[in-house]
Amino acid sequence: MTKYSNLLSPLQVGELQLAHRVVMAPLTRMRSTQPGDVPNALNAEYYHQRATRGGLLISEATQISLQGKGYPAAPGIHSDAQVEGWKLVTEAVHAKGGFIFLQLWHVGRISHSSLHPEAGLPVSSSAIAPSDGSKTFTAEFRQVPYETPRALETAELPGIVADYVRAAEHAKAAGFDGVEIHSANGYLLDQFLEDGVNQRTDAYGGSIENRARLLLEVTDAVVGVWGKGRVGVRLSPFGTFAGISDSDPVALFTYVLAQLSERGVAYAHVIEPRSSGAGAGKEGYDGAPRTSHLFRKAFSGVLISAGGYTAEGAEETISNHDADAVAFGRLFIANPDLVERFREDAALNVPDRRTFYGGTAKGYTDYPTLAEVSAIAQ
Ligand SMILES: Cc1cc2nc3c(=O)[nH]c(=O)nc-3n(C[C@H](O)[C@H](O)[C@H](O)COP(=O)(O)O)c2cc1C
Repeated sequence: MTKYSNLLSPLQVGELQLAHRVVMAPLTRMRSTQPGDVPNALNAEYYHQRATRGGLLISEATQISLQGKGYPAAPGIHSDAQVEGWKLVTEAVHAKGGFIFLQLWHVGRISHSSLHPEAGLPVSSSAIAPSDGSKTFTAEFRQVPYETPRALETAELPGIVADYVRAAEHAKAAGFDGVEIHSANGYLLDQFLEDGVNQRTDAYGGSIENRARLLLEVTDAVVGVWGKGRVGVRLSPFGTFAGISDSDPVALFTYVLAQLSERGVAYAHVIEPRSSGAGAGKEGYDGAPRTSHLFRKAFSGVLISAGGYTAEGAEETISNHDADAVAFGRLFIANPDLVERFREDAALNVPDRRTFYGGTAKGYTDYPTLAEVSAIAQ
C-alpha cells in the first residue's frame, strides 16, 4: 500500500492511458551532438532511465527552427538528422512501455544571433529586449546581455506557424506519442501573450484575443497534424523569466485556457511561480498550488501542475482536485527511478545544479537508482 495512492493512480490523458500521474517535466540539459543539435545515444539512455510503464515523459524543449534556438547544444526537430537522433530516444522510452511527448520551442527574444548567424537577430512580438538584468548564452556558452530583437512582420507569422507544423510532423516521424506546445517561461508564444512585451498594433497585439491569436493558430495547426488527443500546451501565468509580465494575467490566461478547453486538447500544463524553473528557485514544496487552483475551473480537460512539488505536495494537490497530474523537474534530474522511490516512499538523491546544463554523463546519467544506492551501502 503506497502513501501516494492518488499520485500513483491511473489517468486518461487525451488518447493515452497513463498508469500513474508522475509526469517528467520538460528539462533543457544542453547535451545534444554538435554541430547540428542532434539527439544521441547518451540522451536516449537518460530518457530510458526515467521511463516507466504507462508513465509520461515530456522532452526537453526542442527548437522548431534555427531562428527558434536559444541555447547551445539544445536539440532541434527541424533537420532529418535530428529526427533520426530522436528515434533513439523514443525507441528507448517505448522499450520500457513509457510515453514521450516532444516539447516544441521557439525562444523568440531569448535567442542570440551567434547561435544562428544565418537567421540574423532574434525575433519577438515587439523590438523590446529583456530588461531584468538576466543574460543569455552565445554559441560558445558565454553569458552575455540580450540583443534587442526584431519585431516579426505580420506577413512572417504564417511562416512561424508553418515551422511549428513541420516540427510537429517531424515529431511524428521520430516516433513521439504527442507534442507539448511551449507557451510558457517568456519564450516566443509567451512574448505574444503578455503585454509587458507585446506592443503590437496589428491583429496579434492589443486585446487579449489578439495577443492569444498566434498561440491558438499554432495550436490549431499542430492539432491538425496530431489530433487534439495528442497535443498539450504549457503556460506560466505568473512567470517572470527574463522579465516577462502582463498587466492582467488572470484575465489573459482565463481566456487562453477557455479557448484551449473548446479545442479539447489532451492537457494544459501550468507552472506555479514558486519555482523560477531555471534552477534558481527553492527546492521543495512551499505552499498551496495557487496557479492550478485559480485556473482549474477555466480549463475543462486534464490539468498538469508543475513547480516546486514533493510527493506529499503532489498527492495533496491531486486529492484536492487542484490538478490531475503533477510534473516533476529537478527531482527527476536527480532520481532516474523517481516513480519507484515515490512508490516505496524512499529517500531521494539531491540534484546538483552545477551539472544541469551542458557537459557529459556526469550529473546526467550517473545518478544512482535505489538498488544502486543500497548496493553501495552494503
Ligand atoms: C535544468 C532545468 C531545465 C529546464 N528546462 C525546461 C524546458 O526545457 N522547458 C520548460 O518548459 N521548462 C523547463 N524547466 C522548468 C521545469 O520544467 C519545471 O517547471 C521547473 O523545474 C519547476 O519544477 P521542479 O520544482 O519540479 O523542478 C527547466 C528547469 C530546470 C531546472
